[in-house]
Amino acid sequence: MKVLGILGAHKEHGVTAQLLTATLASVPAPHETELIYLADYDIHPDTGIPNPVLDALTEKLLTSDVWIFAAPTYWGGLSGIMKHFLDCLRWRLVRIDHVGDAHPDRFKNKHYLSITDCYISPLDNLFTGVTDATFRQIDTVMNAAGLIKIHEIVCPGTLKNGDRIPEQTLNTCRKWGVKLPNKAKRDDNTMKRYVELFMMIAIMSLITMGIQTGLAPVIAQTNFWLNWAVFVIIFFTLLAIILHVVTFMVHRRH
Ligand SMILES: Cc1cc2nc3c(=O)[nH]c(=O)nc-3n(C[C@H](O)[C@H](O)[C@H](O)COP(=O)(O)O)c2cc1C
Repeated sequence: MKVLGILGAHKEHGVTAQLLTATLASVPAPHETELIYLADYDIHPDTGIPNPVLDALTEKLLTSDVWIFAAPTYWGGLSGIMKHFLDCLRWRLVRIDHVGDAHPDRFKNKHYLSITDCYISPLDNLFTGVTDATFRQIDTVMNAAGLIKIHEIVCPGTLKNGDRIPEQTLNTCRKWGVKLPNKAKRDDNTMKRYVELFMMIAIMSLITMGIQTGLAPVIAQTNFWLNWAVFVIIFFTLLAIILHVVTFMVHRRH
């Protein structure tokens, strides 16, 4: 298996590069790794004339099983150099049908991991979610191309820390580097999601029935339809709270 690290940053040896290098260095042998620094390439879109640079990069993408996108957050979004790369690749990443809709093509079912960093602190990032747009931009493109997301890693606070990366963040990179080959073997998480759904319903039903039993002195349990209505209301309230909390956690990264 091969892991390709794609660095789209102004600095070749900055924080983003270090995060990517730490991840790649932890990919266990005999799996191969390669790092490409996009600024080393003169990247242009396809305009009907030969495009050897994009051909060479496309070949690297094709022969890799996992791609790691490492790009800093610039102006609250994906770095320009990474965006330019993805823009130029558009016609190679997707197949466009007769109404202009994009469909996955030759890269379908490969895997990817995203890495970004930003100046603002972990707490600020939690509430403003400045790195969210960076990850979303990568996800939009990869989703269209049919790739499967493995994970995302964020390193806020680079203004305060400079080029020194907290050991905890480096460990996260190392952990995912080790895991990448195993994660990429699985095509999707369908089975895992069904098990999670089953567990969620089982636990919520238990809590709901527990609350109903607790309410027995207040609401009589003899009427079937009243019991059902109370069950639905409690279950719905719990579900709404869980969905709200989960959505908040997913969209507000530290
Ligand atoms: C053009 C530019 C725009 C930036 N915009 C933001 C921003 O909107 N929010 C933020 O927190 N940091 C911003 N930063 C800081 C970068 O995210 C920071 O430089 C990066 O974490 C450092 O990564 P590097 O060492 O790999 O270059 C910006 C930096 C540059 C150069």
